[in-house]
Amino acid sequence: MNQIKIFCPATVANLSCGFDVLGLCLEGIGDEMIIRKCEQKGLRITKITGADLPLETEKNVAGVAGMALLNHLDLEFGFELEIHKKIKAGSGIGSSSASAAGIVVGINEILGNPLSRKELISFAMEGEFLASGSYHADNVAPAILGGFTLVRGYDPLEVIKINSPKDIYLTIIHPYIEVKTSEARSILPKEIPLKTAITQWGNLGGFICGLYTEDYGLMSRCLQDVVAEPYRKNLIPEFDTIKKTALENGALGCGISGSGPSIFAMSKGKDTAENVANQMKQIYTKTGIGFDVYVSKVCDMGVKFV
Ligand code: HSE
Repeated sequence: MNQIKIFCPATVANLSCGFDVLGLCLEGIGDEMIIRKCEQKGLRITKITGADLPLETEKNVAGVAGMALLNHLDLEFGFELEIHKKIKAGSGIGSSSASAAGIVVGINEILGNPLSRKELISFAMEGEFLASGSYHADNVAPAILGGFTLVRGYDPLEVIKINSPKDIYLTIIHPYIEVKTSEARSILPKEIPLKTAITQWGNLGGFICGLYTEDYGLMSRCLQDVVAEPYRKNLIPEFDTIKKTALENGALGCGISGSGPSIFAMSKGKDTAENVANQMKQIYTKTGIGFDVYVSKVCDMGVKFV
């Protein structure tokens, strides 16, 4: 195989109770990439549509992630890359991660899969570092593996994939304002009180247990963020109204998607998720800020071949 076309999915990170460790893969929202094997060593980006992003490999998230993998593999040939962006940068649904995940999965596939999907995560994290200045894997892991993912540890990296309970649906609202992950990280305190940590790790453990036992009530009680949301919610217009309305309309939980500005609500069943979507639209229409709303299942596959 010399050429591959791939779908690089959007993701939701943190999921309220799992700052920097929990994430999930969305279905149907994502970018496309075409990757071609060529004689010249290295990685060249030949075309980008849908976003104003650098073509220089060393300045591009996909370029940096791809080169990290190629340097590891030390091949006698190289690759060309076309990126067709659909996920807006700074939207909070893993735009940079989709690119970083896509290039490493795509190159690996053309080569006949010398590495496992889990082994590819650390290379994709190099792209995430370029984009945000931090090595988090809570977007790239679900983009590569699909489903829900838990980063059990970063040093060494250990990621656990959990398939989604079948009735989970996400509603995402993406307001057209940009929140840079680096800035959303810089406003967080470097230390948290013990009481806050106890609340957060209790909820994270409970949420994982809820996923395995399909206990929607337990998942709902655990979808709380006492670490990042109190600081970041002020960056997102109408966050409190959206959250209150989502919960009043039956969502299991509602919080900031990644570092924002997108907001996610998690629901049991498509009807509830669609009702929540309509409520969110009504709230945001009044603000005059442009927005998109999506309803999506959790995709158990990660990066897909088209
Ligand atoms: N866990 C990261 C953060 C996700 O919240 O900063 C950023 O996409």
